[in-house]
Amino acid sequence: MPRVLAVSGSLRKDSYNSALLRVLPSLAPAGMEFDFFEGLAELPLYCEDLDTEHPPAAVRRLRTAIAEHDAIVIATPEYLHALPGVVKNALDWASRPVSAPALSGKVVLVLVATPGRAFGFRSLADAAQIINALRNVVVPAPEVVVNSAQQVLVADGDGGWRLEDPAARAFIGVQLGIMADLVEAGVAEAVESSFQRRSAELAQFFASRTATS
Ligand SMILES: Cc1cc2nc3c(=O)[nH]c(=O)nc-3n(C[C@H](O)[C@H](O)[C@H](O)COP(=O)(O)O)c2cc1C
Repeated sequence: MPRVLAVSGSLRKDSYNSALLRVLPSLAPAGMEFDFFEGLAELPLYCEDLDTEHPPAAVRRLRTAIAEHDAIVIATPEYLHALPGVVKNALDWASRPVSAPALSGKVVLVLVATPGRAFGFRSLADAAQIINALRNVVVPAPEVVVNSAQQVLVADGDGGWRLEDPAARAFIGVQLGIMADLVEAGVAEAVESSFQRRSAELAQFFASRTATS
């Protein structure tokens, strides 16, 4: 059973998305364990000048945390019908070094919690597009947006949270099960290793064209 890295896309103290992550252990297949990454606020804004062989400590922490997990859950808000800058910034850092991105070959589940009733899917789509482009496998379906988050995410008084939306609980349980299956099947590693092999062939093709021109 994979250990899962759980990352909230909100820095807000009482974030619904952070609360949603805390519900996941109660919905997950038996044996699935979660590590919660709290360091997005420490990341500097992405700048190539900082992205050297010795990147900032917060970036090293993010990349190491990703490397140590086969599966990642990101629960993120939608801002202005898109993925929030905080998450995009983290993905920019995780997309490097370009030859071996920190975030490649992983199974990734993206969730969105919003107080809205018909919002959130654009943030989900944004995240999936970016994460797939980095050669990961995004759990494809069923897609879940937790709507009316202020009503359905309820503090239990002991520092924990309940998700009082039976359909969302069922969907997320299925997604976590699919995530476990995909990790066990090695699907994301297969995507990355195929890319590495085939792109080497492409490099040879372009090298031979240069040599003959
Ligand atoms: C700048 C900004 C833009 C927002 N745009 C959207 C939006 O497009 N869609 C949406 O569902 N909610 C939007 N919201 C409301 C957020 O969903 C809400 O603040 C939510 O609580 C943020 O998630 P969090 O509770 O995890 O911090 C926006 C909030 C902010 C601050």
